[in-house]
Amino acid sequence: MDRTLVICKPDAVERGLVGEIISRFERRNLKIVAMELRQVDEETAARHYAEHAEKPFYGELIEFITRSPAVVMVVEGPEDTWQVVRTMMGATNPREAAPGTIRGDLGILFTENLIHGSDSAESAAREIGIWFPGLG
Ligand code: RTP
Ligand code: MG
Repeated sequence: MDRTLVICKPDAVERGLVGEIISRFERRNLKIVAMELRQVDEETAARHYAEHAEKPFYGELIEFITRSPAVVMVVEGPEDTWQVVRTMMGATNPREAAPGTIRGDLGILFTENLIHGSDSAESAAREIGIWFPGLG
């Protein structure tokens, strides 16, 4: 089996869209193997988004992901789960995300784009280690 890290970002929790997002994974026959509602602290946010540390939008990104609780989970499927989840998420900018995707159906703002999914198998392993270090 193959795993990836997913975060229902603070906007998804605030808007009551976590159930909708989880339902989509369940209907796709992906399994949730770990899940927790968490107030993300700055240190964890910084580790998670280390690749963006020098970007102009970094401050806004950290402020957003730490502003209220997020639902962090590990999703499992038969193979290339990170890719399946990324396809279901849609483009980073919700205005460009295709209808039928999570962002394309539910979002409209760039920063408040509802969901994070690991962007490679390597990222998935790294991020699962950050958020669920005890997961076997
Ligand atoms: P994420 O990491 O959150 O799942 O999103 P992603 O892979 O689709 O996009 P990524 O390039 O990793 O960017 C991380 C988040 O930063 C915000 N962003 N703003 N203003 C900008 O140019 C810009 N670019 C990225 C987005 O909120 C994106 O989700
Ligand atoms: Mg990313």
